[in-house]
Amino acid sequence: MKIFEKIESEVQSYARAFPRVFNKAQGEFLYDTDGNQYLDFLAGAGTLNYGHNNPVFKEKLLDYINNDGITHGLDMHTKAKGEFLEAFNEKILKPRGMEYMVQFTGPTGTNAVEAAMKIARNVTGQQNIVTFTNGFHGVSLGSLAATGNSHHRDAAGVSLNGTHRMPFDGYLGDDIDTTAYLEKVLSDSSSGINSPAGVIVETVQGEGGINVASVEWLRSLQTVCRKHGILLIIDDIQAGCGRTGDFFSFEEAGIEPDIITLSKSLGGYGLPFAVVLMKPELDTWKPGEHNGTFRGNNFAFITAKAAIDHYWSDDSFAKGIKHKGQYVSERLEAIVKQYGEGNFTAQGRGMFQGINCVNGELAGAITESAFKKGLIIETSGADDHVVKFLCPLVISNENLEKGIDIVEQAIKEVCAKEESIPEMVDYFDDKQAMNA
Ligand SMILES: Cc1ncc(COP(=O)(O)O)c(C=O)c1O
Repeated sequence: MKIFEKIESEVQSYARAFPRVFNKAQGEFLYDTDGNQYLDFLAGAGTLNYGHNNPVFKEKLLDYINNDGITHGLDMHTKAKGEFLEAFNEKILKPRGMEYMVQFTGPTGTNAVEAAMKIARNVTGQQNIVTFTNGFHGVSLGSLAATGNSHHRDAAGVSLNGTHRMPFDGYLGDDIDTTAYLEKVLSDSSSGINSPAGVIVETVQGEGGINVASVEWLRSLQTVCRKHGILLIIDDIQAGCGRTGDFFSFEEAGIEPDIITLSKSLGGYGLPFAVVLMKPELDTWKPGEHNGTFRGNNFAFITAKAAIDHYWSDDSFAKGIKHKGQYVSERLEAIVKQYGEGNFTAQGRGMFQGINCVNGELAGAITESAFKKGLIIETSGADDHVVKFLCPLVISNENLEKGIDIVEQAIKEVCAKEESIPEMVDYFDDKQAMNA
């Protein structure tokens, strides 16, 4: 471990929570150099929906490498890219009645978000992008302006401009429809909110603490956007690629975003890959305007196509995710009921779920204890107060149960040491808010 302490930057984060050296992985398991096995409920922060070293993709990738397939070709046309586009169009877009142009951006989520925001701004001629409380869209300067978390924002070193934050669904309490507030400020010429180019939103906020936008809220958001000529950008980088049950997380809401960002599990194998999907009339890019050397990760094209062919040729995979998601919901509901003294909550959709433990110390103690028991699981949320279940979607039922059992045991032990479980602050209750 010494070399990491000696020369790897202090910026490392996951390595601090899981201080082992890992050297092997398969399916839902990671192994360290001492041969210890860990069940992986982090899955590369949602990059490994199809598991580590998925054998189907591995075979395709090895064949491609053995045949001296192109590794890198800038954005030149390659057979691998063409075949990915065919598969994506035929098996993902067309069956859903979706007509979009595909832009290959630099291979990180944040770069896709940068491109999406540029498109909205350039097409509408407006600068302002509406973003939501607790949203996370990346840490490069444009996307960081859309990200809420102050830990990340404080590192920018310059002012973060061009965005305006609005309350996400549920932020002002269950009874307040925050899209009505958006509608009001956009309709009021003295509200002080500049006319937006676009709205960027996650349907389930991953880093923000597994906050779910209801289908009604998403539909209403789309209606407000349409009414005011604002482009709706769905950031599906973490919630997409099956995580919530469908390929796109917004399918259940039946909305039609103008722009969509995808990354993380799109490559299937943990290989860097990101795209922006835009309605054809929005594709006003001039050649190379948003370029980047690594827009042609051909290995990722191979594994992304394999993922689409293998898992998305029919709806059986989606059905399986929903089934497993139902099991996770039931288990988490039972756990919060048993140990949370009415203060813990289970939240999420599909295989994108979490337990809100009210405070970060509790959640951290739970994930630390789970790690000692052989489970890799992280927290998210403003105060890292949500234990976030993000296991590979291909996990066996047996290992899914085993992982949740470990978390349950960890919660039981951690909560047993607490005098009482802290209450969530209700900011709309005067007394509580003053004492918070
Ligand atoms: C919704 C969302 N958007 C954007 C990003 C940024 O992606 P990346 O870390 O690949 O830049 C993330 C990363 O967690 C994300 O969850």
